[in-house]
Amino acid sequence: MLVLGIETSCDETSVAVVEKRGGTLTVIRQEIASQIELHRAFGGVVPEVATRQHLLRLDPMVRGMLPAVPLADLDGVAVTVGPGLATSLLVGASYAKSFALAAGQPWLGVNHLEGHLFSPFLSRGVAPDGAHLALIVSGGHTLLVHAPAPFDYRVLGSTLDDAAGESFDKVAKLLGLPYPGGPEVERLARQGNPAAVAFPRGMLDSGDFNFSFSGLKTSVRTHWHKERRASLPDICASFQQAVTEVLVKKTMRAARQHNVRVVTLSGGVSGNQFLCAAFAQAAERDGLTALVADPRYSTDNAAMIAAVAACRFERGERSPWDLDVNPNLRLAGGGESAPGMGNSKVLKLRSRRREALI
Ligand code: KG4
Ligand code: ZN
Repeated sequence: MLVLGIETSCDETSVAVVEKRGGTLTVIRQEIASQIELHRAFGGVVPEVATRQHLLRLDPMVRGMLPAVPLADLDGVAVTVGPGLATSLLVGASYAKSFALAAGQPWLGVNHLEGHLFSPFLSRGVAPDGAHLALIVSGGHTLLVHAPAPFDYRVLGSTLDDAAGESFDKVAKLLGLPYPGGPEVERLARQGNPAAVAFPRGMLDSGDFNFSFSGLKTSVRTHWHKERRASLPDICASFQQAVTEVLVKKTMRAARQHNVRVVTLSGGVSGNQFLCAAFAQAAERDGLTALVADPRYSTDNAAMIAAVAACRFERGERSPWDLDVNPNLRLAGGGESAPGMGNSKVLKLRSRRREALI
């Protein structure tokens, strides 16, 4: 099963070809065109700019990949249909449908969150084959998902306000650091003391599996403005420690409660080495297997989308031609409350400024 995958849900244009043989998943090729440099000047993602970039980049990227993977060898085309930015999703979905129709191949609309859920497995070259508990942490989402069996997802909890990546981005912004904030905060935190400031651990003992990070952000702001001799590295390290502690403790608690032996970590924030180390250590302490997404598959990428589709095509699934994108798409069976895209990444500019951009 050989699948062409396309991902344009936010500010990364990505194309990949993934092969599935038995339980093995192999990424034949993947390309990611990041738009971070374009959006940095605005301190977040400008939807019109993102959409235009997808329009410009997607077709050359697909054409560039085809000599290595002949059309005749492909078994299907997959694309992210949500959650994400409506206009960005539309570029990928329209392209994928047209491509599949012209090539006489089936197409499949894939849930971006299921892609993130697959990425720790894809990083090991295998398809998910048993029960696991997934922590997905990105700029738009913070989800704890129990998968008792492949393709069976129960959302145990989500964030009630900011997503984990969003809190990194917002804290970075208030500290005067550039976008995206996650890597900047992590860089400074390496020189700081994680125990320097006792920031709150939001909802750590709430008794459920939801998260809240906006109070933490407010505490950082208050501390930064009040403490004249506040150290930036100490604040970053203490903030990172607070986020990490809540994410890791709640994941391990959920694994215990649901009697799951495999815990996974994915999404853009899983690029944070401090979080990865704490996650792996806690899992080891509890006798669990921890699977963490490889950096190639932790931020938005098409390989994870193609991987989901390869498994679903194999089960005989196809999407109807009239399937539309859904910016607020949820994971099946989900009770998550967060909207499709976190609001820190996506800028709301006044219309005149927007027009000047496009
Ligand atoms: O998964 P992703 O690429 O896009 C979304 O689907 O949102 O995640 C991007 C998010 C951003 O908020 C970014 O600040 C965060 O992931 N991020 C990090 C790190 N690298 C990226 N957060 C903390 N530490 C990092 N090293
Ligand atoms: Zn994502």
